[in-house]
Amino acid sequence: MKKKLIISVDDLLVDDISRLFYASRTMASTFAGVARKFSPAVLMTAFFEASTRTRLSFEIAACRLGMQVCTFNVASSSMSKGESVLATISNLVAMSPDILVIRSPDQLELATLSLDQVAVINAGDGVNEHPSQAMLDCFTLVNYFKSDDLAQKRILIIGDVVHSRVAHSNIKLMSKLGAEVTLLAPEPFRMQASLGQRWSISDYEDCAGDYDAVMCLRIQKERMSQEGGFSDREFFEQYGLTNKRLERLGKNCVVLHPGPMNLGVEIEDQVAYGPRSLIRQQVKNGVLVRAALMEFCLSGG
Ligand code: NCD
Repeated sequence: MKKKLIISVDDLLVDDISRLFYASRTMASTFAGVARKFSPAVLMTAFFEASTRTRLSFEIAACRLGMQVCTFNVASSSMSKGESVLATISNLVAMSPDILVIRSPDQLELATLSLDQVAVINAGDGVNEHPSQAMLDCFTLVNYFKSDDLAQKRILIIGDVVHSRVAHSNIKLMSKLGAEVTLLAPEPFRMQASLGQRWSISDYEDCAGDYDAVMCLRIQKERMSQEGGFSDREFFEQYGLTNKRLERLGKNCVVLHPGPMNLGVEIEDQVAYGPRSLIRQQVKNGVLVRAALMEFCLSGG
Protein backbone atom coordinates (compact mmCIF):
# COMPACT_ATOMS: atom_id res chain seq x y z
CA MET A 1 0.00 0.00 0.00
CA LYS A 2 1.31 3.45 -0.89
CA LYS A 3 2.38 5.33 2.22
CA LYS A 4 0.75 8.53 3.34
CA LEU A 5 2.35 11.86 2.46
CA ILE A 6 1.38 14.85 4.59
CA ILE A 7 3.03 17.69 2.74
CA SER A 8 0.15 20.15 2.76
CA VAL A 9 -3.05 20.51 4.74
CA ASP A 10 -4.68 19.75 1.37
CA ASP A 11 -3.59 16.16 1.99
CA LEU A 12 -6.05 15.87 4.89
CA LEU A 13 -9.76 15.38 4.25
CA VAL A 14 -12.23 16.95 6.68
CA ASP A 15 -13.06 13.42 7.90
CA ASP A 16 -9.38 12.69 8.49
CA ILE A 17 -9.07 15.89 10.49
CA SER A 18 -11.90 15.04 12.84
CA ARG A 19 -10.54 11.49 13.25
CA LEU A 20 -7.14 12.96 14.03
CA PHE A 21 -8.60 15.41 16.54
CA TYR A 22 -10.45 12.53 18.20
CA ALA A 23 -7.26 10.47 18.27
CA SER A 24 -5.34 13.42 19.78
CA ARG A 25 -7.99 13.86 22.45
CA THR A 26 -7.78 10.20 23.45
CA MET A 27 -4.00 9.98 23.04
CA ALA A 28 -3.36 9.80 26.81
CA SER A 29 -5.04 6.39 26.98
CA THR A 30 -3.29 5.28 23.80
CA PHE A 31 0.02 6.18 25.41
CA ALA A 32 -0.86 4.35 28.60
CA GLY A 33 -2.59 1.28 27.22
CA VAL A 34 -0.77 0.38 24.03
CA ALA A 35 2.60 1.91 24.65
CA ARG A 36 4.36 -0.75 22.65
CA LYS A 37 1.73 -1.17 19.97
CA PHE A 38 3.91 0.22 17.21
CA SER A 39 7.21 -1.22 18.31
CA PRO A 40 9.54 -1.53 16.50
CA ALA A 41 8.35 1.11 13.99
CA VAL A 42 11.11 3.63 13.35
CA LEU A 43 10.77 7.40 13.15
CA MET A 44 13.61 9.29 11.48
CA THR A 45 13.74 13.06 11.94
CA ALA A 46 15.77 15.02 9.39
CA PHE A 47 15.86 18.73 10.19
CA PHE A 48 17.93 20.82 7.80
CA GLU A 49 16.92 23.94 9.77
CA ALA A 50 16.84 24.74 13.47
CA SER A 51 13.94 23.57 15.62
CA THR A 52 13.03 23.13 19.28
CA ARG A 53 9.34 22.29 19.55
CA THR A 54 8.65 20.55 16.27
CA ARG A 55 11.48 18.01 16.25
CA LEU A 56 11.30 17.17 19.94
CA SER A 57 7.53 16.85 19.97
CA PHE A 58 7.66 14.37 17.08
CA GLU A 59 10.40 12.47 18.89
CA ILE A 60 8.73 12.41 22.29
CA ALA A 61 5.42 11.42 20.69
CA ALA A 62 7.21 8.52 18.95
CA CYS A 63 8.77 7.46 22.28
CA ARG A 64 5.35 7.53 23.92
CA LEU A 65 4.00 5.32 21.12
CA GLY A 66 6.82 2.86 21.74
CA MET A 67 8.53 3.64 18.42
CA GLN A 68 12.29 3.83 17.90
CA VAL A 69 13.76 7.22 17.01
CA CYS A 70 16.72 8.05 14.74
CA THR A 71 17.77 11.69 14.60
CA PHE A 72 19.68 12.90 11.56
CA ASN A 73 22.27 15.52 12.48
CA VAL A 74 23.18 17.98 9.70
CA ALA A 75 26.40 19.17 11.35
CA SER A 76 27.94 15.70 11.57
CA SER A 77 26.52 14.46 8.24
CA SER A 78 28.09 14.17 4.78
CA MET A 79 26.51 17.49 3.88
CA SER A 80 29.80 18.98 5.09
CA LYS A 81 31.35 17.03 2.18
CA GLY A 82 29.03 18.65 -0.33
CA GLU A 83 26.00 16.33 -0.46
CA SER A 84 22.78 18.18 -1.30
CA VAL A 85 19.56 18.19 0.71
CA LEU A 86 17.73 16.11 -1.91
CA ALA A 87 20.53 13.55 -2.22
CA THR A 88 20.64 13.31 1.58
CA ILE A 89 16.88 12.75 1.79
CA SER A 90 17.13 10.11 -0.93
CA ASN A 91 19.69 8.23 1.20
CA LEU A 92 17.53 8.52 4.32
CA VAL A 93 14.57 7.12 2.36
CA ALA A 94 16.75 4.22 1.15
CA MET A 95 17.25 3.18 4.79
CA SER A 96 13.45 2.66 5.04
CA PRO A 97 12.41 4.28 8.30
CA ASP A 98 8.65 3.80 8.74
CA ILE A 99 8.16 7.56 9.01
CA LEU A 100 10.49 10.31 7.85
CA VAL A 101 9.81 13.78 9.26
CA ILE A 102 11.59 16.45 7.21
CA ARG A 103 12.21 20.16 7.77
CA SER A 104 13.84 21.83 4.82
CA PRO A 105 14.92 25.40 4.01
CA ASP A 106 13.26 25.11 0.57
CA GLN A 107 9.98 23.76 -0.68
CA LEU A 108 10.05 19.94 -0.61
CA GLU A 109 10.23 18.38 -4.07
CA LEU A 110 9.87 14.65 -3.53
CA ALA A 111 8.67 13.62 -6.98
CA THR A 112 11.97 11.94 -7.92
CA LEU A 113 12.08 9.79 -4.78
CA SER A 114 10.61 6.35 -4.46
CA LEU A 115 8.44 6.71 -1.38
CA ASP A 116 6.39 3.52 -1.47
CA GLN A 117 7.89 2.19 1.75
CA VAL A 118 8.19 5.41 3.75
CA ALA A 119 5.58 7.80 5.13
CA VAL A 120 6.72 11.42 5.01
CA ILE A 121 5.53 14.31 7.17
CA ASN A 122 6.57 17.82 6.23
CA ALA A 123 7.79 19.66 9.35
CA GLY A 124 8.11 22.98 7.53
CA ASP A 125 9.48 23.50 4.02
CA GLY A 126 10.76 26.97 3.15
CA VAL A 127 7.90 29.45 2.98
CA ASN A 128 5.51 26.75 1.77
CA GLU A 129 3.70 24.78 4.50
CA HIS A 130 3.86 23.34 8.01
CA PRO A 131 0.82 21.06 8.25
CA SER A 132 1.45 19.48 11.68
CA GLN A 133 1.77 22.96 13.22
CA ALA A 134 -1.58 24.00 11.72
CA MET A 135 -3.14 20.77 12.99
CA LEU A 136 -1.97 21.44 16.54
CA ASP A 137 -3.01 25.09 16.39
CA CYS A 138 -6.53 24.21 15.20
CA PHE A 139 -6.73 21.34 17.69
CA THR A 140 -5.86 23.80 20.46
CA LEU A 141 -8.67 26.09 19.31
CA VAL A 142 -11.38 23.43 18.88
CA ASN A 143 -10.49 22.03 22.30
CA TYR A 144 -10.62 25.47 23.86
CA PHE A 145 -13.96 26.27 22.22
CA LYS A 146 -15.23 22.76 23.01
CA SER A 147 -16.46 22.34 19.46
CA ASP A 148 -15.80 19.97 16.56
CA ASP A 149 -14.77 22.63 14.10
CA LEU A 150 -14.16 26.37 13.84
CA ALA A 151 -17.47 27.34 12.23
CA GLN A 152 -18.36 30.98 12.84
CA LYS A 153 -15.06 31.68 14.58
CA ARG A 154 -13.30 34.85 13.61
CA ILE A 155 -9.53 34.52 13.60
CA LEU A 156 -6.96 37.25 13.04
CA ILE A 157 -3.40 36.39 11.94
CA ILE A 158 -0.94 39.25 12.45
CA GLY A 159 2.54 39.84 11.06
CA ASP A 160 4.84 38.35 8.48
CA VAL A 161 2.18 36.33 6.64
CA VAL A 162 3.97 36.05 3.31
CA HIS A 163 7.08 34.31 4.67
CA SER A 164 5.27 32.16 7.23
CA ARG A 165 4.64 28.52 6.31
CA VAL A 166 2.71 28.27 9.60
CA ALA A 167 0.34 30.99 8.38
CA HIS A 168 -0.06 29.36 4.97
CA SER A 169 -1.07 25.98 6.43
CA ASN A 170 -3.25 27.64 9.07
CA ILE A 171 -5.15 29.84 6.64
CA LYS A 172 -6.03 26.72 4.63
CA LEU A 173 -6.89 24.55 7.64
CA MET A 174 -8.78 27.18 9.64
CA SER A 175 -10.88 28.01 6.56
CA LYS A 176 -11.46 24.32 5.88
CA LEU A 177 -12.80 24.01 9.43
CA GLY A 178 -15.20 26.91 8.86
CA ALA A 179 -13.37 29.87 10.41
CA GLU A 180 -13.39 33.34 8.94
CA VAL A 181 -9.72 34.30 8.67
CA THR A 182 -8.46 37.90 8.49
CA LEU A 183 -4.81 38.75 7.83
CA LEU A 184 -3.22 41.89 9.24
CA ALA A 185 0.21 42.58 7.77
CA PRO A 186 2.28 45.58 6.73
CA GLU A 187 2.63 46.01 2.96
CA PRO A 188 5.93 44.04 2.55
CA PHE A 189 4.50 41.07 4.48
CA ARG A 190 1.11 40.89 2.76
CA MET A 191 0.27 37.81 0.76
CA GLN A 192 -1.18 38.07 -2.73
CA ALA A 193 -2.24 34.43 -3.03
CA SER A 194 -5.66 33.44 -1.82
CA LEU A 195 -5.49 30.42 0.49
CA GLY A 196 -8.95 30.88 1.98
CA GLN A 197 -8.58 34.11 3.92
CA ARG A 198 -11.65 36.36 3.93
CA TRP A 199 -9.91 39.72 4.38
CA SER A 200 -6.43 41.12 4.21
CA ILE A 201 -5.70 44.50 5.79
CA SER A 202 -2.63 46.49 6.71
CA ASP A 203 -3.87 48.84 9.42
CA TYR A 204 -4.80 47.92 13.01
CA GLU A 205 -7.55 50.54 12.86
CA ASP A 206 -9.33 48.39 10.22
CA CYS A 207 -9.58 45.32 12.49
CA ALA A 208 -13.30 45.63 12.92
CA GLY A 209 -15.34 43.39 15.14
CA ASP A 210 -15.02 40.75 17.75
CA TYR A 211 -12.31 38.16 17.16
CA ASP A 212 -12.34 34.77 18.87
CA ALA A 213 -8.62 34.17 18.41
CA VAL A 214 -5.51 35.99 17.26
CA MET A 215 -2.25 34.43 16.07
CA CYS A 216 1.00 36.43 16.14
CA LEU A 217 3.85 35.60 13.78
CA ARG A 218 7.58 36.16 14.07
CA ILE A 219 9.28 38.24 11.38
CA GLN A 220 10.95 35.45 9.38
CA LYS A 221 14.17 37.32 8.60
CA GLU A 222 15.99 34.20 7.42
CA ARG A 223 13.37 33.62 4.70
CA MET A 224 13.46 37.13 3.19
CA SER A 225 15.50 38.31 0.26
CA GLN A 226 15.49 41.83 1.74
CA GLU A 227 14.55 43.35 5.10
CA GLY A 228 10.95 44.42 5.70
CA GLY A 229 12.00 48.07 5.86
CA PHE A 230 11.33 48.73 9.55
CA SER A 231 13.13 48.08 12.81
CA ASP A 232 11.87 45.64 15.45
CA ARG A 233 10.82 48.66 17.51
CA GLU A 234 8.81 50.18 14.68
CA PHE A 235 7.16 46.82 14.04
CA PHE A 236 6.18 46.54 17.72
CA GLU A 237 4.74 50.04 17.72
CA GLN A 238 2.57 49.36 14.68
CA TYR A 239 1.75 45.65 14.92
CA GLY A 240 2.96 44.28 18.28
CA LEU A 241 0.19 42.60 20.28
CA THR A 242 -0.21 44.47 23.57
CA ASN A 243 -2.87 43.96 26.23
CA LYS A 244 -4.49 47.19 25.10
CA ARG A 245 -4.78 46.01 21.51
CA LEU A 246 -5.97 42.56 22.62
CA GLU A 247 -8.73 44.19 24.64
CA ARG A 248 -9.95 45.92 21.48
CA LEU A 249 -9.78 42.78 19.34
CA GLY A 250 -12.37 41.00 21.44
CA LYS A 251 -13.27 40.62 25.08
CA ASN A 252 -12.84 36.83 24.92
CA CYS A 253 -10.16 36.72 22.24
CA VAL A 254 -7.48 34.07 22.93
CA VAL A 255 -3.87 34.26 21.78
CA LEU A 256 -1.79 31.80 19.75
CA HIS A 257 1.84 31.92 18.66
CA PRO A 258 3.63 29.00 16.95
CA GLY A 259 6.99 30.02 18.49
CA PRO A 260 9.78 30.93 18.57
CA MET A 261 8.55 34.21 20.08
CA ASN A 262 10.37 37.50 19.92
CA LEU A 263 9.00 39.28 22.98
CA GLY A 264 8.69 43.02 22.46
CA VAL A 265 8.58 42.63 18.67
CA GLU A 266 5.41 40.78 17.58
CA ILE A 267 4.00 40.28 21.10
CA GLU A 268 4.55 41.75 24.56
CA ASP A 269 5.39 39.42 27.42
CA GLN A 270 2.26 40.28 29.45
CA VAL A 271 0.17 38.94 26.56
CA ALA A 272 2.39 35.93 25.80
CA TYR A 273 2.25 34.79 29.43
CA GLY A 274 -1.13 36.31 30.26
CA PRO A 275 -4.46 34.63 31.03
CA ARG A 276 -5.68 34.63 27.41
CA SER A 277 -2.57 32.95 26.06
CA LEU A 278 -2.89 29.37 24.73
CA ILE A 279 0.77 29.32 23.69
CA ARG A 280 1.95 26.79 26.28
CA GLN A 281 -1.09 24.64 25.52
CA GLN A 282 -0.07 24.66 21.83
CA VAL A 283 3.29 23.17 22.80
CA LYS A 284 1.64 20.51 24.98
CA ASN A 285 -0.85 19.65 22.24
CA GLY A 286 1.96 19.36 19.71
CA VAL A 287 2.94 15.99 21.20
CA LEU A 288 -0.63 14.62 21.05
CA VAL A 289 -1.39 15.81 17.54
CA ARG A 290 1.93 14.62 16.14
CA ALA A 291 1.41 11.23 17.78
CA ALA A 292 -2.02 11.10 16.12
CA LEU A 293 -0.52 12.00 12.74
CA MET A 294 2.13 9.27 13.05
CA GLU A 295 -0.47 6.71 14.16
CA PHE A 296 -2.50 7.76 11.09
CA CYS A 297 0.52 7.25 8.81
CA LEU A 298 1.40 3.87 10.31
CA SER A 299 -2.12 2.56 10.01
CA GLY A 300 -2.18 3.54 6.35
CA GLY A 301 -4.32 6.68 6.84
C1 NCD B 1 7.79 27.90 12.92
C2 NCD B 1 8.53 27.41 11.71
O1 NCD B 1 9.60 26.83 11.82
O2 NCD B 1 7.97 27.58 10.64
N1 NCD B 1 8.11 27.34 14.12
C3 NCD B 1 7.54 26.17 14.53
O3 NCD B 1 7.65 25.15 13.88
N2 NCD B 1 6.84 26.18 15.67
C4 NCD B 1 7.63 29.36 12.97
C5 NCD B 1 8.85 30.23 12.87
O4 NCD B 1 9.93 29.80 12.50
O5 NCD B 1 8.67 31.41 13.16
